Amino acid sequence: MTERIVLAYSGGLDTSVAIGWIGEATGAEVIAVAVDVGQGGESLETIRQRALGCGAVEAYVADASDEFANEYCMPTLKANGLYQGHYPLVSAISRPVIVKHLVKAAREFGATTVAHGCTGKGNDQVRFEVGIQTLGPDLKCIAPVRDLALTRDKAIAFAEEKGLPIETTKKNPYSIDQNVWGRAVETGYLEDIWNGPTKDIYDYTATPEFPPAPDEVIISFEAGIPVAIDGVKVTPLQAIKELNRRAGAQGVGRIDVVEDRLVGIKSREIYEAPGAMALITAHKHLEDITVEREQARFKATVGQRWSELVYDGQWFSPLKRSLDAFIEDTQRYVTGDIRMTLHGGQAVVNGRRSDTSLYDFSLATYDTGDTFDQSMAKGFIELWGMSAKVASGRDIRVAGK
Ligand code: ARG
Repeated sequence: MTERIVLAYSGGLDTSVAIGWIGEATGAEVIAVAVDVGQGGESLETIRQRALGCGAVEAYVADASDEFANEYCMPTLKANGLYQGHYPLVSAISRPVIVKHLVKAAREFGATTVAHGCTGKGNDQVRFEVGIQTLGPDLKCIAPVRDLALTRDKAIAFAEEKGLPIETTKKNPYSIDQNVWGRAVETGYLEDIWNGPTKDIYDYTATPEFPPAPDEVIISFEAGIPVAIDGVKVTPLQAIKELNRRAGAQGVGRIDVVEDRLVGIKSREIYEAPGAMALITAHKHLEDITVEREQARFKATVGQRWSELVYDGQWFSPLKRSLDAFIEDTQRYVTGDIRMTLHGGQAVVNGRRSDTSLYDFSLATYDTGDTFDQSMAKGFIELWGMSAKVASGRDIRVAGK
């Protein structure tokens, strides 16, 4: 029987050419799998037809947009997941859900190998292949761009020679990856890290310099998850989409960073994640009133480690799973409303309320009604400073010798 290879298919030039390229190099039949993670753009049926037109024996489309929002974006929100404090893990969290569907398709169509369009220099190859090793340890991996010398020039020549139903002339200088959680743009002009991004690279966000009137929004959370916007019930996917639209119109969530890739390269990336950044900001502020101080401090460390693991392709790893359990436990009381103003590139929180809040007016107030006994503070401070005071006494003694 002819060997079968499942290919992660985006509909773009590289993966379209990869169908025939893999076929010629290996003699295998190629099954194209496109996964909807809310990337928008062309309809999945158009993409499916293109795959067949490029020689795929089967083309399979998986609608994973709700699954992606529920099981990948929401855990990232609960973790306040920002790699290196900036990047909301847009591409990093989409790879594991794509892998899940690739492995499923490999089983359904009797494939022995999974293929993806990544280069040998980035993080995504690692995320795909570590994911596949974990979910389908018997499956092999192949990356035509990396393993079968499929360069851009060769891809264009191949597409023209075979008359593939794909545009080869439209020159996009950037490498773009997008889904409902955000959009990542790199390469080309941006590789000079002194160059500012030009306006044309943005798609999810309007320029914040000339914003429309401020937009006030109330986001309601239940156990760390957005459940309503301005009182209207929403699913996680709807919440992200609605905030992509409203925060995007105000230019919220533009990020320009040089980040540390797993493979040891520093790389420049422009992100836009209006919905994700608005949600993370709101969520963080709700945690500030509902999560106990020591738990909150420790959670910040856990969230950072969680983000590194996810960035580094360890979504399905035991440590990531254990940290999920910790994070989940912290979200028990993260229920309530956050009011924020979206304007001029900023999402600024200006009100919060929660039935599970730890904010105690009678402890905090400087007005009448104060129940805090200030006389307790004096002794507390004595003891709190004791250890450092003893040590500094020693320093003075030793220096005087
Ligand atoms: N640097 C980001 C990451 O590793 C995004 C990579 C996505 N690819 C792109 N073509 N911009 O997660």
